Amino acid sequence: MAGNPAHLIRPHVHGIPLYVPGKPIEEVERELGIVAAKLASNENPLGPAPEVVTAIAAAATKMNLYPELEAPVLRRAIAGRLRVEEDSVLVTAGASHFLEIAALAFLGPGLTSLGPWPSFVHYVIASRMAAGDFVQVQAADPRKATVEEILGSVTPATRLLFIANPNNPTGAHYGRGELEALLCGLPEHTMLLWDEAYFEYVTAEDYPDGIAYLARDPRMMVVRSFSKVHALAGLRVGFGVGHPAIIRELARIRGPFKISLPAQAAAVAALDATDHMARSIALAIEGRAFLAETLAGMGLRVWPSQANFVTVDVGADAGEVAGRLERTGYIVRPLKPFGLPTCLRITVGTMEQNAGFVRALAGLRLCA
Ligand SMILES: Cc1ncc(COP(=O)(O)O)c(C=O)c1O
Repeated sequence: MAGNPAHLIRPHVHGIPLYVPGKPIEEVERELGIVAAKLASNENPLGPAPEVVTAIAAAATKMNLYPELEAPVLRRAIAGRLRVEEDSVLVTAGASHFLEIAALAFLGPGLTSLGPWPSFVHYVIASRMAAGDFVQVQAADPRKATVEEILGSVTPATRLLFIANPNNPTGAHYGRGELEALLCGLPEHTMLLWDEAYFEYVTAEDYPDGIAYLARDPRMMVVRSFSKVHALAGLRVGFGVGHPAIIRELARIRGPFKISLPAQAAAVAALDATDHMARSIALAIEGRAFLAETLAGMGLRVWPSQANFVTVDVGADAGEVAGRLERTGYIVRPLKPFGLPTCLRITVGTMEQNAGFVRALAGLRLCA
């Protein structure tokens, strides 16, 4: 019998961090025998729209068939909404899949991606999957790297700049002027991957619509997700938009049949479920204002957020605080892995969940 063949695995694979998801609600409920609220993964607390559920059920009867490769109906619907050409849209299995495809296309040994940190962990994973590496921008303030700090970190090896706007987990956003300064200062050998997974929740007046910049600069790619405002995290649908010459090449490494038949049908229906979308946005905006005000009123430092979550410095070991909150039925995300050991990220839930979470946190008597 041969020994463990793990040594045959290419060395860069060992350096890929495992993605650590928010603790599954089922696990907590089983362990504690209580009804829990998961405020840890930036999901939509309303669930999918009823008409989306109907579309998924209809698709279920056709599950013996392979889905259409290009998701053409969905692609046309997305292009129509965004007023872009269909050949500039690539539908993927979640925004994360587009990040992986871009990394595979632009990175490799000796080549790097760059991004402010803390940010979405999948930028690191995708870069390493492509045998490249992710470099963190050295920023004075972890809440937001300046444009100068970002541009100052670009090297001849930088092929991809990952920016989440707004950013996860900080909630901070870049304005139009900052995006324009970035594009102006970015060298020709660097692509900009502008991640708008939380686009719909933004209320800031100076927030740029990344799509509007695509025509100006062919280095720009914009990625969006159906996981958040459209409440389809469990189905895995997202898309990237970019110059057709780039999108055409990226399609080669998407892999066949990656966007399942129910996912395609659900996403098409979700685009039309505008009432549900409006309710999801209103709930997130109301909830994040409530959390920000209430937590600040408790003497805690809250990071201003444009997304469907709020990050708060609890001034204590956030891992331990998260453990205690979990025992009361509230699952939140401690940010120690992001270098923020006293911070928690709380996804905005229903107003009832938000109020319950605040009561549970107050019950821990962290503040004087
Ligand atoms: C900034 C950012 N981009 C992308 C994603 C992933 O989106 P998807 O579920 O479509 O892969 C997330 C998920 O949390 C995120 O925070």
